[in-house]
Amino acid sequence: MKKRVLGVLLTAVMAMGMFAGCGPADTGAPAGDAGTAQTADSGDTSTPANPNGKRVAVAMPTQSSERWINDGNNMKEKLEALGYEVDLQYAEDDVQAQVSQIENMIAAGADCLVIAAVDSSALVNVEQQAKDAGIPIIAYDRLLMDTDAVSYYATFDNKGVGTAIGKYIEDAKDLKNAKADGKSYTIEFFMGSPDDNNAVMLYDGLMEVLQPYLDDEVLVCKSGRTSFDDTCILRWSQETAQQNCENYLTGFYADEKLDICATAFDGFAYGCKAALEGAGYKVGEDWPLITGQDAELMATKNIIAGSQTMSIYKDTRLLADKCVTMVQAVLEGGEPEINDTEQYDNGKKVVPSYLCTPVAVDKDNYKEIIVDGGYYTEEQLAE
Ligand code: BGC
Repeated sequence: MKKRVLGVLLTAVMAMGMFAGCGPADTGAPAGDAGTAQTADSGDTSTPANPNGKRVAVAMPTQSSERWINDGNNMKEKLEALGYEVDLQYAEDDVQAQVSQIENMIAAGADCLVIAAVDSSALVNVEQQAKDAGIPIIAYDRLLMDTDAVSYYATFDNKGVGTAIGKYIEDAKDLKNAKADGKSYTIEFFMGSPDDNNAVMLYDGLMEVLQPYLDDEVLVCKSGRTSFDDTCILRWSQETAQQNCENYLTGFYADEKLDICATAFDGFAYGCKAALEGAGYKVGEDWPLITGQDAELMATKNIIAGSQTMSIYKDTRLLADKCVTMVQAVLEGGEPEINDTEQYDNGKKVVPSYLCTPVAVDKDNYKEIIVDGGYYTEEQLAE
């Protein structure tokens, strides 16, 4: 993992070295449990041939979780295969660093910007600069808010991620019959970053399924923290999720077991796992149902081992494919693939979008979805 991240870092540093005053942000170490990137990075820093003479700049939020490393690698590989020069940079969750990176991308002559924002509303000025310079912008995975400078949006069905997590809990705990059976379950929520529109949509989808069960007390949230504002975790911090879970376990759950950790991200599931281990919970005995998102390698291993119950598989190769069709459309003309023209209103415009389908994975279907789908090999999962 370290070696591979170093390869990515070196590539980023080399790329950024071309621009005066554009040092990489403090990249830090990847979060302990983040696992290994799905796509190997060769560490090759040579500039590829640039037959079509166009340069695509890709701004990614962080290397602290595996999925964004995969996203960056996939985008670079696919764009280079089409002959584009690629300037891939990671902001390590530093909003100002991402603003500077994008300013530098514009100054360095990018023909198109692909942006997965750290803070979706913080890029308005730099997006306007790009628009003024005639540089089209594609929003990647996270919607860019409050700007009319964005042409297209490639993402997963973010509300669908929430409903898939909710339905998984509903089925696994047979919530539909719980009231009649006189059963109830304790639950706590660990939701995503308030500056990420995806997090709000996920919450809405989740609560669409679970709110009725909270209302009739089949689900009991002892902390009382069920609103998005009370459960969101800034910048998707694994450490904060762990801290929150520790606080719940030592406080509200000192005398009663926690049955469900409804989390929005594999990183949060790792944080909950650490907190539960610290509190003496045991897999196979009193371990709660723990949800996640991204089906990271580590999460998939944890699912096999029973310390995480499920995750949401998001095939980042597919997302990159769809995004690349958008890049081609804005640079070469033609129509990109769009399947949603209604849901994603960023406050200034409804952004034409392609929504990939998220899939719930657990120990019963991971082989079919993840291994047969070529996302991870049995060997990677066994390491
Ligand atoms: C993405 C998720 C990811 C989260 C944390 C969200 O914007 O849609 O896939 O788990 O960010 O990185």
